[in-house]
Amino acid sequence: MTNKKTHFGFSEINISQKAGKVASVFHSVASNYDLMNDLMSFGMHHIWKKFLVSTCHVKKDARILDIAGGTADLSILLAKKMGVHSSQFKGQLIHSDINLSMLNIGRNKLIDEGIFIPSLLCDAESLPFSDNYFDCVTIGFGIRNMTDKKKALSEIYRVLSPGGKILILEFSKVWRPLQFFYDQFSFKLLPKLGKLFAKDELSYQYLVESIRMHPDQESLKKMMEEESFSKVEFLNLSSGVVAIHVGYKF
Ligand SMILES: C[S@@+](CC[C@H](N)C(=O)[O-])C[C@H]1O[C@@H](n2cnc3c(N)ncnc32)[C@H](O)[C@@H]1O
Repeated sequence: MTNKKTHFGFSEINISQKAGKVASVFHSVASNYDLMNDLMSFGMHHIWKKFLVSTCHVKKDARILDIAGGTADLSILLAKKMGVHSSQFKGQLIHSDINLSMLNIGRNKLIDEGIFIPSLLCDAESLPFSDNYFDCVTIGFGIRNMTDKKKALSEIYRVLSPGGKILILEFSKVWRPLQFFYDQFSFKLLPKLGKLFAKDELSYQYLVESIRMHPDQESLKKMMEEESFSKVEFLNLSSGVVAIHVGYKF
């Protein structure tokens, strides 16, 4: 048992406890996750996700992995963009997540949309794929929940093929003049919404705190570069409420 510490929201915990605590949050929020996302972001998360997918220029034979895919919003958009059921499609799209509750909801949504792709239970920090396999890896709102973000990034780098790219959509550091209002909204209102609609104030308190503890735009960029990604850039959306980071394996 290691004594190394990490954060779970604002609390300091043993590194060995983090994955279990994050798992409890997502088992707990899974059934209300989509409703809460719509409420908390005023529907903006759909626009952010569509924007991410619009930046994902992939060929008809591309292999794409959606990590921390949860309730499958990104996988559904990617599947539609790639035309996974068209005769021209020769590639592969995999929806994945470490959490069975989130993965099941995502898989059911994919089926309801008439999209039949694999939904795979897997940990981003230990990916069950061979080296140089994928042309693109996407992660939407997943990386901040991972215990060892560097390990996840290095695993993604390993499974990407040369020329392949990573696209990360994540909450980030909001534009300074908006910080006060954003904090009021996040800390005062969001946990209350969680209590009212999902009967789960604590999970939403964690989600808000985890956003504050997540590395800002420049720090995540640096972290990606340290894990060997090239041409790393980020784009702020909604004044930095979220950012898209892109990087390549060359
Ligand atoms: C906030 S949800 C995002 C779901 C979806 N991508 C979206 O954008 O709506 C975060 C997801 O990250 C997953 N997750 C956390 N740690 C993970 C890990 N180490 N490997 C894979 N997925 C992980 C959680 O289970 C959860 O489903």
